[in-house]
Amino acid sequence: MNTLSSFSRRRNALLAHIGDGIAIIPTAPEVVRNRDAHYPYRFDSYFYYLTGFTEPESVLVLAGGKSILFCRDKDMEREIWDGFRHGPEAAREIFGMDEAHSISRLDELMPQWLANRKSIWFALGADANWDTRVTGWLKQTRNQARAGVSAPGEIVDVRMALDEMRLIKSADELVTMRRAAEISAEAHRRAMRAAHRCANEYEIEAELLHEFRRHGAQAPAYTPIVAGGANACVLHYVGNDAPLRDGDLLLIDAGCELDGYASDITRTFPVNGKFTAPQKDLYDLVLAAQAAAIAAVRPGQHWNAPHEAALDVLARGFVDFGLCQGTPQAVLESGDYRRFYMHRTGHWLGLDVHDAGEYKRDGAWRALEPGMALTVEPGCYVRPAADVPEHFWNIGIRIEDDAVVTADGCEIITAAAPKSAREIEEWMAR
Ligand code: GLY
Ligand code: MN
Ligand code: MN
Repeated sequence: MNTLSSFSRRRNALLAHIGDGIAIIPTAPEVVRNRDAHYPYRFDSYFYYLTGFTEPESVLVLAGGKSILFCRDKDMEREIWDGFRHGPEAAREIFGMDEAHSISRLDELMPQWLANRKSIWFALGADANWDTRVTGWLKQTRNQARAGVSAPGEIVDVRMALDEMRLIKSADELVTMRRAAEISAEAHRRAMRAAHRCANEYEIEAELLHEFRRHGAQAPAYTPIVAGGANACVLHYVGNDAPLRDGDLLLIDAGCELDGYASDITRTFPVNGKFTAPQKDLYDLVLAAQAAAIAAVRPGQHWNAPHEAALDVLARGFVDFGLCQGTPQAVLESGDYRRFYMHRTGHWLGLDVHDAGEYKRDGAWRALEPGMALTVEPGCYVRPAADVPEHFWNIGIRIEDDAVVTADGCEIITAAAPKSAREIEEWMAR
């Protein structure tokens, strides 16, 4: 759990960064799903990172050394229908703000706040409505020029500064991420155990969601992928409504979100609890690729090193198993391996499942540093084709864990989900 002091420490860091500027960070809007029904509300990650405040219709303003929150007023009538609202007064006190105002006063107060600031720090381009509103305030501020007011001369993307902060996780963020990872690992264990009594992918999805919610995770961090047999070769398969078949593999990519933080696990296992020989060949290959990639997750390595390590192993295996022709080196150089492995080996992980943070800097892959969190997720997806050995057709495998870079390597926070073929078979047999 982020503590109050973490949020204010981050605000102070951003205040120091923007100097004479003003930062404007709105939270996410509520989104209608159809007519009167809304999508489950999810706050904006940047806004949450700086406030811990989860109510919609809120904006954080940082300027002149102060944190100012705009939020909804108390409203007994609305609270009877929709639930509790802090209101500005309580929000200011509980969330450690210097000032708080009703969101209904935003347009009235912002031109004054913009006056005599050098720059506006804002996620320009992220939301057309906010772009219009902020540039409208800017115009009003400029209109006061004859009264001696100077308006900000530039708009800077505030996300650049925040991405850099979000890339290195603090101790309290890691506590939440470890717990999210544990819950997700528990869900994968449950799914493996349930497979023998489930006839359809959606029944497995229900087991995952049950386990997430049972432990207090608020939502899945992304739409779960529950893909039996050939469906595993569709990378973003989310139909999750096909019958499970004896003899097929089942690929599950599912992770919960806990207190804003994502986890992201993939496991692939046999529906009937026992790998066939060709399934095990490819499974062990992906597992070896993952082990090589994990060994490359440590300070001193760069972002792409785990991907390169996984590719080396996969290219050799693809040649050994007759999936690719020629030498492994030639397969790497030609990119032939992309027929069976077409995605990258990971991404940053945090408040967003594909988290904030640059992968390259000044044209070079960035170096891994303690506190960075990333996934390691090689795979292999074989579609039927005349030049592909038939016993591998329709096998799709991915193995994905979440890693936190430590001083001398990495911590795998999703390790509780069974992973080797033997561990999986034993867990499913019990
Ligand atoms: N579950 C999303 C991903 O693996 O990138
Ligand atoms: Mn992932
Ligand atoms: Mn995933």
